[in-house]
Amino acid sequence: MIKFLFGLIVGIGLLLLGGYLFATRGSLFMGTKGGPLPMERSLAHKALSASIGQSSQDQSPFPTDETNLLAGARVYQQNDCFMCHGRLDQPASDISKRFYPHAPQLLPPSKGVTDDPVGTTHWVVKNGIRFSAMPAFEGKLTDAEIWQVSLLLLNADKLPLPVQEVLRQPRSD
Ligand code: HEC
Repeated sequence: MIKFLFGLIVGIGLLLLGGYLFATRGSLFMGTKGGPLPMERSLAHKALSASIGQSSQDQSPFPTDETNLLAGARVYQQNDCFMCHGRLDQPASDISKRFYPHAPQLLPPSKGVTDDPVGTTHWVVKNGIRFSAMPAFEGKLTDAEIWQVSLLLLNADKLPLPVQEVLRQPRSD
């Protein structure tokens, strides 16, 4: 038993040492070019889902009506979301592809986060995503504004025309 435990501890120690040397001796390329490392995507995805936890079940205290969608469109336009996540019916911006991970298109023709629970989108916009270019907007936007932009993204594939109009305008401060 003692031998087994000793072997287990040495084994785990060697693995950790291997990981440490891999990361610190330059084998772990920290630039944004290239694909994901083994397991990187699934680990990042699991860590993000665990951090969001029960917040994914949160429901918007605001209804999905034109007033809130219009407000959400203004939040999107005035806070540089479009810079990284693109404009309505336009190809992905050049900068979005130069981040790692890439900034996904959140407006049509992409389906963006229309399939995700609105609580998940609210969590991401509020807290940002570590090790990515996604900023946290808590403190910059009110909670109401975060819900409004989350409702906008949830309904991005079925926005009323006046809301589409706002998303087509150049940035207005
Ligand atoms: C400087 C660039 C940048 C800005 C500005 C930015 N984002 Fe992001 N955002 C990112 C990146 C990069 C990711 C992808 C992170 C990842 O995959 O881990 C992301 C991810 C997201 C996601 C999750 C997408 C998914 O597929 O699950 C949402 C939702 C989001 N951003 C909304 C917003 C909103 C709303 C704004 C503006 C209030 C905004 N972002 C501003 C870079 C940005």
